[in-house]
Amino acid sequence: MRPEILLLGSGWVPQVDKVLERDYVCHRLAAVAPADRDAFIERVAPGVRGVFTTGVTGIDAALADRLPKLEIVAVHGVGVDAVAFDALDPRGILVTNTPDVLTEDVADLAVSLLLASSRRIPQLDRHVRAGDWEAKKPLQPARSLRGKVAGIVGLGRIGRAVATRLESFGMAIRYFQRSTADCLYPRSASLPDLARESDYLIVCAPGGAATRAMIDADVLDALGPEGTLVNIARGSLVDEAALIAALQEGRLGAAALDVFADEPRVPAALRELDNVVLTPHVGSFTVETRTAMGMLAAANLEAHFAGKPLPTRVLG
Ligand code: DGY
Repeated sequence: MRPEILLLGSGWVPQVDKVLERDYVCHRLAAVAPADRDAFIERVAPGVRGVFTTGVTGIDAALADRLPKLEIVAVHGVGVDAVAFDALDPRGILVTNTPDVLTEDVADLAVSLLLASSRRIPQLDRHVRAGDWEAKKPLQPARSLRGKVAGIVGLGRIGRAVATRLESFGMAIRYFQRSTADCLYPRSASLPDLARESDYLIVCAPGGAATRAMIDADVLDALGPEGTLVNIARGSLVDEAALIAALQEGRLGAAALDVFADEPRVPAALRELDNVVLTPHVGSFTVETRTAMGMLAAANLEAHFAGKPLPTRVLG
C-alpha cells in the first residue's frame, strides 16, 4: 500500500508531482480553501506518515502535533528555519532538505541583484519605457564594482559561491560569521565592522532564532549612505522597519531584496522607494534547480520508506 503524505505549499515542478502521485497517496493542503483546512487536516491526519513542504512553509508545532503517525518531513529547500524541530525531535521525526543543488543559482541571483542595483537596471528600464530617453531627461550615473568591497554575511556554501563570482568582478571580499571560516578572505571583527568596511553587504546566513534581525539599525548605519544591502537569505535576518527608515532617510544608499519578513507581503514603503530592487523569493527558481530540488526531496522520502539511509538528512 502506498504511504500517505501531506503536501504543504507549492513551487516544485510538475515532474516532481508526477513522482509523488505515483509513489504516494497525496493530500494537498494548498488545494484546500483556507476555511476548510481544519476539517481537511482532521480527516487526513490519521494516515499521514510523511510531509513534503517548502523551505518557507516548513511545518509548525501545531500541525505536527495533529499528525500522530508522522515519520518524516522532506523540505524542498535548503533553509529549515520554518521547521519546528522542538516538536519533531522528541518524537524522532526525521527532517531532510535539499542543499548543494541550489547553491549556484541562488548565488547567481545574489550577483544579479547586486548588479541590478549598482547599475540601476530597474530605474533604467523604467526610464526607457516612460519615454524619458527620447525626451532627453537627465540620468543618474551608476557605480563601478571594480575595487569595491563585498561583505559576505555567512560564508557557507552560498556565501562562498557569491564571493567567487564577485572576485571575478574585481571586488575585494570580506566576511563575517560567528566562527572563523577556513578560507583566504579576511574576517571582520563584528557585523557592524563588516558593514563599515564594505560597499555591498550580502546576506547569505541561515534564518532562525540565532540570526533574527541581526541586520539592525546599527549595521545599516555602518553600511552608510553609499552602501547597498543585498538579501537572498531570509527576511527574518533584517530588521525591516529599520531598513525602510534608513532608506527613506538616506542613511543607506540602496537595497536589493529577494526575501522579506512576512512573505508574500512586501511593505508598501519598500515598494515605493526608487533605490530598491525587489524580487519574489526566486533564488532557486530555475527549471534545472527546481527539478533537482524536487527530485532530491522525493529521493529522501523514497529512501525513508524503503528503509535506506537518507541522502540529505538535517539534524535539529
Ligand atoms: C531555500 O531553499 O531555503 C529557499 O530559500 C526556498 O525556501
